[in-house]
Amino acid sequence: MSTGDLTLTALGLDIDPAVDASVTALLAAVEEALRTNVASADPLVAEAARHLADAGGKRFRPILVALGAQFGDPELPEIIAAANVVELTHLATLYHDDVMDEALVRRGSPSANSRWGNSVAILVGDYLFARAADIAASLGPEAVHLQARTFARLVHGQIAETAGPRGTDPIEHYLHVIMEKTGSLIATSAHFGGLFSGAEAKDVQALAAYGETIGIAFQLSDDLLDISSESVESGKTPGTDLREGVPTLPVLYALDGDDTDPRLRELLSAGPLTDDELHAEALTLLRESAAMKRARETVRMYAEQARAELAPLPDGEAKRAMDALCDFIADRTS
Ligand code: IPE
Ligand code: IPE
Ligand code: MG
Ligand code: MG
Repeated sequence: MSTGDLTLTALGLDIDPAVDASVTALLAAVEEALRTNVASADPLVAEAARHLADAGGKRFRPILVALGAQFGDPELPEIIAAANVVELTHLATLYHDDVMDEALVRRGSPSANSRWGNSVAILVGDYLFARAADIAASLGPEAVHLQARTFARLVHGQIAETAGPRGTDPIEHYLHVIMEKTGSLIATSAHFGGLFSGAEAKDVQALAAYGETIGIAFQLSDDLLDISSESVESGKTPGTDLREGVPTLPVLYALDGDDTDPRLRELLSAGPLTDDELHAEALTLLRESAAMKRARETVRMYAEQARAELAPLPDGEAKRAMDALCDFIADRTS
């Protein structure tokens, strides 16, 4: 997997060349700063901290900062720092998430935990959070507050996922989890873009609302891809959620539906599917299930909601690009 997989051009969408050029230039500057920002004088920390940044990734959060910045002045240097704050925060959560999920592959490379062990992965994640905080401080107290509060929400989402629904409705619980663990940082990405480009307050607010909802759709589509994709596409090991017993929406819909194949229901009810054969059988049945179709419709519903949240923003090419992103998210799982 390489960087730039999700640059606006690579989406294959009809994006205005001026918006595209601005976003592409910003992403190149973000990339250069990121290399400096993950550096360390300690050779082990330096190698482990640049590992995932070097491995690629879609840079979805910096893209949202860059798109949000189109509503103000995207040339301001703060935009690059703000995009680094969100990508560094994201990177740090990936180091920790792969420990929690015992994931072996990330961004098409060995995960940090599989390469250096859990302790190094956790500590390097902490180091990246520290770097994000330092850069946020250079942007002022509002950025520090926003990053810290976003991180707190994200952690609550991860904890809620770990703790499980605890007597609450599992589907509502799942939707709450993904809003907190993923919607939060993607909302802040679009918010930062608006804020640090000097966009109007009402536009900054609309950008945050859009980011939150497209973030939910993004995580939903990621969970669907865990079931439907091959690892070459995702850069991760497919079926990780099933193996780890993390119930995502298709599984919850399958357990909830009256028309679910009894064998699939039996397999899914058993908890984490660690046996290779049972895991493969469940994955095959799930891929063809009505629950999967229903989950795709839910992705589309959130993508449409995100589109509606663009309404207060001034019409123009930047808004059109954000509208096109809604289609991209809805279509990437169909
Ligand atoms: C992975 O995020 C974790 C989720 C919140 C879905 P991305 O899908 O943005 O991962 P990278 O940055 O492209 O590796
Ligand atoms: C990761 O969630 C979300 C974070 C906020 C760290 P997942 O565990 O669902 O994401 P992947 O599939 O490993 O990327
Ligand atoms: Mg994970
Ligand atoms: Mg996880």
